[in-house]
Amino acid sequence: MPAIIIIGAQWGDEGKGKIVDFLAEKANMVIRYSGGNNAGHTVVNQYGQFGLHLMPSGIFNPSVVCVIGNGVVVDPAVLLKEIDLLQARGVDTSHLIVSSRAHLIMPYHILLDGLEEEAKGGGALGTTKMGVGPAYVDKMARLGIRVGDLLEREAFHRRLSEVIFHKNILLTRVYGKAPVSVDEIFDTYCKYADRLAPYIKETDILVEKALEDGKLVLLEGAQGTLLDIDFGTYPYVTSSSPSAGGACTGLGISPRKIGHILGIFKCYPTRVGGGPMPTEIKDEIGQLIRERGHEYGTTTGRARRCGWFDGVGARYSSRINSFTDVAITRLDIFDTLETIKICTSYMVDGTRMDNFPASIDVLQKCQPVYEEMPGWRVPTSDIRHFEKLPPAAQNYIRRIEQLIKAPISLVSVGPRREQTIWLKAIV
Ligand code: GDP
Ligand code: IMO
Ligand code: MG
Repeated sequence: MPAIIIIGAQWGDEGKGKIVDFLAEKANMVIRYSGGNNAGHTVVNQYGQFGLHLMPSGIFNPSVVCVIGNGVVVDPAVLLKEIDLLQARGVDTSHLIVSSRAHLIMPYHILLDGLEEEAKGGGALGTTKMGVGPAYVDKMARLGIRVGDLLEREAFHRRLSEVIFHKNILLTRVYGKAPVSVDEIFDTYCKYADRLAPYIKETDILVEKALEDGKLVLLEGAQGTLLDIDFGTYPYVTSSSPSAGGACTGLGISPRKIGHILGIFKCYPTRVGGGPMPTEIKDEIGQLIRERGHEYGTTTGRARRCGWFDGVGARYSSRINSFTDVAITRLDIFDTLETIKICTSYMVDGTRMDNFPASIDVLQKCQPVYEEMPGWRVPTSDIRHFEKLPPAAQNYIRRIEQLIKAPISLVSVGPRREQTIWLKAIV
């Protein structure tokens, strides 16, 4: 069976964790392919509620092999803490494997993430300050240290000394900070290595074998398409490729192996951190949605900016990823609204625009053109069939489907697995 990619279609936090945990009941392998612990994926199931940062959301099914792929940047301290927390709550983590090719987040990456943001002042991106951006910078600058390097102590020390030589010039001469110590970091990371060693593998071979054997493989995206380093609202983006293309390079599999590309949209987008968001709701309705939806970041606790469904951004995301299936989450959060707005195009300097612009300067000027639809004003959380949804809710979903030009396969009406309405089976 070919692989299924599960992708955040907006600015992240669309409910990927819930959908992956749900689909993982039937899967054999669940793989994270990009990002790091900037991600926060919430899963609510029989074990309780969890905010996962690096651990694939398939970890709750003991027969699923969970893979952290080469495209992920791994902070070993965070991963070990996550393993400990899960084990303390009765979740077996022995079925996790970590790619030896994945890059490590080092202490100086975290320091630099904070210092770079501080130096940008009012122009700060609002990163999660987890060191993710600086770790990807080093990967591309060929100054990275990989998970597999932890297993070769002598070479690791040599490499670390070379890299820290550069980092300390930056820390002391540019930022006026104290240098970091090679030996301290080496000792700490050797301790991490002792614990992580059993998990470290050449994962691309195992993924290939699973696909060859016809196993159901889920590729769990992190972040969202509008945060993609190439296709997002640059420079207000993350430093990786959360969109469909990133899944192949983030794992070492061919696009020919992909069967379904499932895009997850919230029925209203949210955004954490800086950057343009044309449909942001700045009045009390935005506040109401935030409170009703508990829209506060799973990773940083920051308030999420909430907006009306942006049909232009969504259509763009749908085109970049070529979704074969779409999930709409959080429909229930709109249950109390009298009227719902939906953006169908933008106006810029008196001209109508149907495409999402590459330039954030243009995007800042985009005024959303809204259609208004009546709300349904009845609870939907207990509904399990599309036809049983109030007609206004069905109309809203169908209107989204028209705008994004991709078929909706499921609608989510609550955080728990069973609060899911299938329109079309994908597994
Ligand atoms: P992710 O990063 O894409 O995995 O999303 P997050 O976990 O950061 O944020 C999504 C939030 O919505 C989490 O608190 C989920 O438990 C919750 N959630 C997911 N689907 C639904 C839904 O259909 N309705 C409601 N009310 N909550 C949902
Ligand atoms: P999940 O997987 C929402 C945002 C940050 C910031 C920008 C760059 O839970 O959907 P970074 O730390 O990545 O350099 O920050 O990206 N961001 C997210 N926003 N959900 C996420 O992940 C995010 N991961 C990064 O808020 O605006
Ligand atoms: Mg999240």
